[in-house]
Amino acid sequence: MMILPIVFLVFSTHSSAEVCHPKDRAALVAFKRSFSYPPNPFPTWDPIFDCCDWYGVQCDETTHYVTGLDIAPYEDLNGTIPPSVKDLQHLTVLRLHKIPNLVGQIPPEIGDLPNLRSLTISWTNISGPIPGFLAKLKSLVFLDLSFNRLSGSIPPVLATLPYLRGFDLSRNQLTGPIPESFGHLPATAEVPALVLSHNKLSGEVPASLVNVNFSSVDISRNNLSGDASVFFGQGKATSTIDISRNNFEFDFSKVRFTESLDVLDISHNKIYGTIPQQITDAVYLQFLNVSYNRLCGKIPTGWKLRYRSESWDNTSFFHNRCLSGAPLEPCKS
Ligand SMILES: *[C@@H]1O[C@H](CO)[C@@H](O)[C@H](O)[C@H]1NC(C)=O
Ligand SMILES: *[C@@H]1O[C@H](CO)[C@@H](O)[C@H](O)[C@H]1NC(C)=O
Ligand SMILES: *[C@@H]1O[C@H](CO)[C@@H](O)[C@H](O)[C@H]1NC(C)=O
Ligand SMILES: *[C@@H]1O[C@H](CO)[C@@H](O)[C@H](O)[C@H]1NC(C)=O
Ligand SMILES: *[C@@H]1O[C@H](CO)[C@@H](O)[C@H](O)[C@H]1NC(C)=O
Ligand SMILES: *[C@@H]1O[C@H](CO)[C@@H](O)[C@H](O)[C@H]1NC(C)=O
Repeated sequence: MMILPIVFLVFSTHSSAEVCHPKDRAALVAFKRSFSYPPNPFPTWDPIFDCCDWYGVQCDETTHYVTGLDIAPYEDLNGTIPPSVKDLQHLTVLRLHKIPNLVGQIPPEIGDLPNLRSLTISWTNISGPIPGFLAKLKSLVFLDLSFNRLSGSIPPVLATLPYLRGFDLSRNQLTGPIPESFGHLPATAEVPALVLSHNKLSGEVPASLVNVNFSSVDISRNNLSGDASVFFGQGKATSTIDISRNNFEFDFSKVRFTESLDVLDISHNKIYGTIPQQITDAVYLQFLNVSYNRLCGKIPTGWKLRYRSESWDNTSFFHNRCLSGAPLEPCKS
């Protein structure tokens, strides 16, 4: 096994020219040096190899600038996100994933990467707030800060990112409301995904969100309240609506369902009214759970489902005030 690197070394020093830019190389070396443990982090980041060949480093094929840094997973790496990351000025993709001993806050230097299109810091022990300076990343399309220990509220300014198509802030300790500004995403943004589940968010859902054509919504397991019917509506592109385990209280009778809906979970709220017959227009619905609410009336019949789903049974409907009809037993009141 030890032969391989040596063979590669001989091959590489004799036949391939260095394409890595010295500034990028210096930035990566500084990045590596800022971790004190393990003693030699990123062992493949060796000066005898072209830095474009270093593990987790991607270079542009034409310009040879470092455009991607993808470190995942790295169980042993201890430390904070190095400020030197900002010297990788051509970075479009930064992914720090499954690094359990990555601690500290998101450094301000992350906001100085103007070309960043995708930022993932997930499954780490990064803490502190979601910084407002992330709104400086005007090219950002995808933001994933899930499974960390982030706290504080969601910065309203994130809604100014013109190309943001999805944000996943799930599984943190975020508090406060969903910002009202999220109902005014720039018109250039394509249908975005909103994933905020497993936090401690509270307050009423802003009415402005009715304007947004979300591709998917998962705000489950928070303490949000008010009227979540804003996420519904005919003609929207929404495929998933999971608002389960919150404090929502609104009349379900008035909700209209888009044909593209494929997962619907409203369980464990205080939602009242009836299940509208129009729900049977959601012909792609594969998962349905309205249990543990205050619904009444008859469960619709005549479902026009395209795919037969095994994932609903009477537990999809149980623990409501008075729902009746298949697959439940008749109401006994
Ligand atoms: C790395 O971090 C973990 C968790 O914070 C800690 O238990 C361990 O002692 C650290 N190791 C070193 C060598 O710093
Ligand atoms: C955070 O650290 C704790 C212990 O130091 C560890 O058990 C946990 O898995 C870490 N979290 C993540 C998401 O890696
Ligand atoms: C959830 O929010 C309600 C107000 O809507 C509040 O009374 C309650 O204490 C909150 N629960 C938790 C666990 O924060
Ligand atoms: C939502 O987006 C889809 C796909 O982009 C589009 O077809 C639909 O007309 C939009 N609906 C609304 C209500 O904006
Ligand atoms: C619906 O949700 C309830 C409450 O979480 C759960 O007990 C039940 O198993 C779920 N049923 C289905 C079909 O998902
Ligand atoms: C659900 O259906 C099972 C059989 O499929 C039955 O044993 C159970 O009592 C039913 N529960 C309710 C709440 O209707």
